[in-house]
Amino acid sequence: MKQSPGESACLVTGVAGFVGSHLAERLLAEGQFVVGVDNFSSGFPQNLENLLRDPGFAFYEDTVTDRGLIARLKALHPGLLYCFHLAAVVSVPFSMENPLVTMEVNHDATALMLEESGRMGFKAFVFAGSAAEYGADERLPLLESYASSRTRHLSPYGESKYLASARVASTPHGIALRCFNIYGPRQHPGSPYSGVISRFVEMALDRQALTVHGDGGQVRDFIYVTDIVEAYLAAAGLSKRWRKPPGGVFNLGTGRGTTVLELAGMINGLTGNTGDLVFGPERPGDIRCSLASTERFRQATGWTPAVDLEEGLRATIEWRRRARKDPLAVSG
Ligand code: UD1
Repeated sequence: MKQSPGESACLVTGVAGFVGSHLAERLLAEGQFVVGVDNFSSGFPQNLENLLRDPGFAFYEDTVTDRGLIARLKALHPGLLYCFHLAAVVSVPFSMENPLVTMEVNHDATALMLEESGRMGFKAFVFAGSAAEYGADERLPLLESYASSRTRHLSPYGESKYLASARVASTPHGIALRCFNIYGPRQHPGSPYSGVISRFVEMALDRQALTVHGDGGQVRDFIYVTDIVEAYLAAAGLSKRWRKPPGGVFNLGTGRGTTVLELAGMINGLTGNTGDLVFGPERPGDIRCSLASTERFRQATGWTPAVDLEEGLRATIEWRRRARKDPLAVSG
């Protein structure tokens, strides 16, 4: 078994997921030893391809609801000092049908790991929160203080993330990051509930009309995955560029809104797709506008997103073109 050399190691849960795999690669590039955990409930083994080739990476197929997970991993890798907790029930529709499982995974398991990591002397526990914590709040841009016990959540997913974030933020080593709409290479287009960018890119590359739910006036704050990864490093105090923030809850977005119609136009333009748009019914429970206030994290760390939407879309389209030619090599 691989041992953690050097001084410190990072645990990444949900490491086979879209964001988790990018984060783990970035931590390895920083010279960290990375211990990855995933149960493949929504992650993909292909996302681990690059990681498994790296001697600084150890993988455990395990689930975060297992009690004592952190203690067991710490016994194997005494250098573990940072936890990036991304493993979760990520599907909103699944959460509607399975509220108890959602709470168990997204909140209860987080609470256990948070407590264990504190007891074991971890320096940071960085939690992947969500814009869903704001429910359908219409005050824009969304300030961190707007999510409260009075917020009417639209799904058990949103509620479980809110409760977990609040708990994480109440500990000295916990930082909860409320991520807005993340996109980029490795985001899977396969299900109706995949992110709109991954779906539109796939439809455009298939030379199909893009399907817009409702009138397309919905606004979202799209943020590229590498910007999210840089913010995670900053949150843990592992960035050479950005300052470590105090504990608490922070939004991660760009502060710039894009409508679904604008997005569709950009993706058609970048792919040369001439198919028309098809307008379907509004998606049940869809929120109209979502936009982050990014001030709190920027002031605490200096971090600002570096990749604008067009550049991020180009990279995502390029990756998807390659992945479609060679489906086994989805790493990007
Ligand atoms: C996102 C998150 C979700 C979270 C929510 C919180 C993703 C994939 N999902 O949902 O987990 O709970 O933020 O605010 O990041 N659309 C179309 N056509 C399509 C697909 C989508 O018009 O084929 C529209 C949707 O109706 C929606 C917008 O695009 O208005 C964005 O959809 P989506 O990418 O699924 O993200 P959110 O709904 O914002």
